Amino acid sequence: MSSAPAPAAAPSVIARPWVVIKFGGTSVSRRERWENIRRIAAAHRARDRRVVIVVSALSGITDQLKAIAESRGDDARCREVQAAIVERHQAMRAELGLDGCARMEQRLADLDRLIADPRRAQAAVAWQAEVFALGELMSSALGADFLDANGLPTQWLDAREHLRATPIANHSAWARYLSANVPAAPDAQFASALAARGDCFITQGFIARNDQAETVLLGRGGSDTSAGYFGALLKAEQVEIWTDVPGMFSANPRVVPEARLLARLDYEEAQEIATTGAKVLHPRSLGPLRRAGVPLVIKDTHRPQLAGTEIRAVAADAAPCVKAISARKGVTLISMETVGMWQQVGFLADVFEAFKRHGLSVDLIGSAETNVTVSLDPTENLVNSDVLSALAADLARICRVKVIAPCAAITLVGRGMRSLLHKLSGVLAEFGALDVHLISQSSNNLNLTFVVDEALADDLIPRLHALLIRADALRAEDGAVFGPSWRELGADAAAPVRETWWMRERSALLELAAERTPRYVYSLEAVRAQARALRALGAVDRWHYALKANPHPAILRALHEEGFAFECVSTAEIDAVRSALPQLAVERILFTPNFAPREEYAQALAAGVRTTLDALHPLQHWGELFRDREIHLRLDLGVGRGHHDKVKTGGASSKFGLALDQVEEFRTLARRHGARIVGLHAHLGSGILDAGHWRAVYAQLASLAEGFSRIESIDVGGGLGVPSRPDETPLDLAALGAALAEVKSAYPQFHLWLEPGRFLVADAGVLLARVTQVKRKGAVHYVGVDAGMNSLIRPALYEAWHEIVNLTRLGEPAQTMVQVVGPICETGDVLGANRRLPECREGDVILIAQAGAYGAVMASRYNLREPATEDVR
Ligand code: LLP
Repeated sequence: MSSAPAPAAAPSVIARPWVVIKFGGTSVSRRERWENIRRIAAAHRARDRRVVIVVSALSGITDQLKAIAESRGDDARCREVQAAIVERHQAMRAELGLDGCARMEQRLADLDRLIADPRRAQAAVAWQAEVFALGELMSSALGADFLDANGLPTQWLDAREHLRATPIANHSAWARYLSANVPAAPDAQFASALAARGDCFITQGFIARNDQAETVLLGRGGSDTSAGYFGALLKAEQVEIWTDVPGMFSANPRVVPEARLLARLDYEEAQEIATTGAKVLHPRSLGPLRRAGVPLVIKDTHRPQLAGTEIRAVAADAAPCVKAISARKGVTLISMETVGMWQQVGFLADVFEAFKRHGLSVDLIGSAETNVTVSLDPTENLVNSDVLSALAADLARICRVKVIAPCAAITLVGRGMRSLLHKLSGVLAEFGALDVHLISQSSNNLNLTFVVDEALADDLIPRLHALLIRADALRAEDGAVFGPSWRELGADAAAPVRETWWMRERSALLELAAERTPRYVYSLEAVRAQARALRALGAVDRWHYALKANPHPAILRALHEEGFAFECVSTAEIDAVRSALPQLAVERILFTPNFAPREEYAQALAAGVRTTLDALHPLQHWGELFRDREIHLRLDLGVGRGHHDKVKTGGASSKFGLALDQVEEFRTLARRHGARIVGLHAHLGSGILDAGHWRAVYAQLASLAEGFSRIESIDVGGGLGVPSRPDETPLDLAALGAALAEVKSAYPQFHLWLEPGRFLVADAGVLLARVTQVKRKGAVHYVGVDAGMNSLIRPALYEAWHEIVNLTRLGEPAQTMVQVVGPICETGDVLGANRRLPECREGDVILIAQAGAYGAVMASRYNLREPATEDVR
């Protein structure tokens, strides 16, 4: 046996992997951006990678070339745009410090030649493609010279030499020239031939060549596609799309600031998200990469340190989960109605034949016995009124046609959608309140789409996104899939933080916490400031404080000094007011109980407290109590409002208020017992941020009051909300004042009363707790604190969101995503889920904000743990 020589090391040209990096128009339009490109490419080179840089045209140039392509008959305009293009490129060349750029000059000459070309008169698509291609040919030429001159030897590559488009059956000439396809698959020969030429290349996005050696384009967003093609041809280690955002998000972050960065997606999900709305990546770029098994990463040029979004093959252990919610606007629905469709052979074939004839590709389909409805996606179709009326005329021969537009297609994307249905009940309920035109579930189990009127989309998306997170359908705590929110990423960029009283008093609060935790701390100054803001609204005749929110005696006294009367719901609350304020005139107390026992009414009336009834029962059974008394009547106006279903106090499913159909009976009973109804009242819920709400309630009650003989006051309840989540907008007090003034002037004969609780005290209170233990389970980090749901039950009861900060480490970068939990033996004992906090240590002081309303007063001794104590500053 002869000993074989050791195998020779593989030639280095094979061993060194390729990386394809792509930059869009804004990333190539300034010198500093080119320096950035140089740094990124050089970093890859330093890791011994070979690099292909794919670039778009300078920003705005493709549009100018389009203006030239469409300028037939208008020579002056054409020459004007041409001059602008020349000037822009010369200026860029100068900015890059290049004395000349032969390749660019040659393209400017080509432009001149193409303008003089007779094909311009017909705007021939082949000619258009040549015109459009100049933008990328010039930007890449500038880039090659700049990189070469600045220490990164780079060769210019004509993408058309390597990307060969093949025509697809049924494609129009328009699509063949301006939206062509390249069947790119790994080509080892090409890779090694290129490697033999050098290590760093720059080439054009957007352009390719057909079998006749003509220039063709890859459609809008074609530069991403080119990067995908080169990545596949070279079987690159990775393709990087460098852009101006940190990656793909779980929703359009401009509409949903809480949208989470998607750290990791598989090809199909990413493709689905890109197809259904996200603009950051062109969906076509993924197919070739998926087939070649090349990962794609989206990175932010401004913040290269961020990991971005990584797209690769599906992870074996991937659990079903909603990854994103997207909205496509401008969708047109065609509804086709026929009586005879059921089992009629060929009906669908006839229908789709008509769509084919008009060059329309159908997106979603819904069908029933007598109806087929399909959607047309504006990004795939030239949908205009001419095309639609021609189509409708054709279809009218076989069915009744209705066009519904403009619509929005709202899509939930995620692998295994069908196994997630049980978590979507909140989302479905939200759609249940709307007119949904079509629902479609993709057969690849990756998406669920609802088509609604376009105008609804922008409001709906943030709500749905929040619901998906709350229902754990979008498993935001999974750090492997979901990164920080858009807002958090923005916060990194030093967004100003709203200064609160507790930030100013941080050291005093830390001292208090050093003595003992958990403890509530209230700022009377903050209470007074809210009180004054309300008292400044002229239209209100009397303000009551709903002391159920926080009956601390110091707060009652402060609000009395600020001119507030009091609204109580139990005799114990009446006693609390009277003991805090012994001098208070009893008529400044309003008693608004619900299902209270007889004795409480008797006591209140005996003390001379204004009393509100909200049922027939008291008059039916205890009529004598009310003889010759003035009473107020609380009505149910039929709907509830508020931050959570559990705080809505209107409608049949709420136990509050007298139903409107019982008002007559109530009046008869009152008359019978000699009780005088002097006030009407409605409180429809808590945590309302819409300033128009109380106007509507007043208007309804005032018009009802006109049917009574002696109504003096109209109480429109409380419910004034404060924003808790970062994406909520505060109640517009000026608008509230104006709305109340307006409706008051329509019914000036009644006194207008309000009875807010939360608004006065919520932000004035914080809960201080201390870290007891920290723990990690899998990817989930827990921070345990000594305040639990027995001190603050709102998160557990209403999924309420309270801002949570590490007061000890205030201002330190908040990197870790944690679950802030209490010591109570309940899985629901979570004060804040998925919060980003600085690294927490045992003993750190944690501050839970906005705890002044419905905090201490709702506490319990569950587990025999004493709840947090209270202090006032
Ligand atoms: N008036 C009546 C008749 C009420 O029932 C309430 C609150 C108010 C006024 C004051 O509502 P406010 O302005 O505070 O929203 N525990 C829940 C809130 C329950 C509200 C009960 N009724 C929470 O923590 O969100």
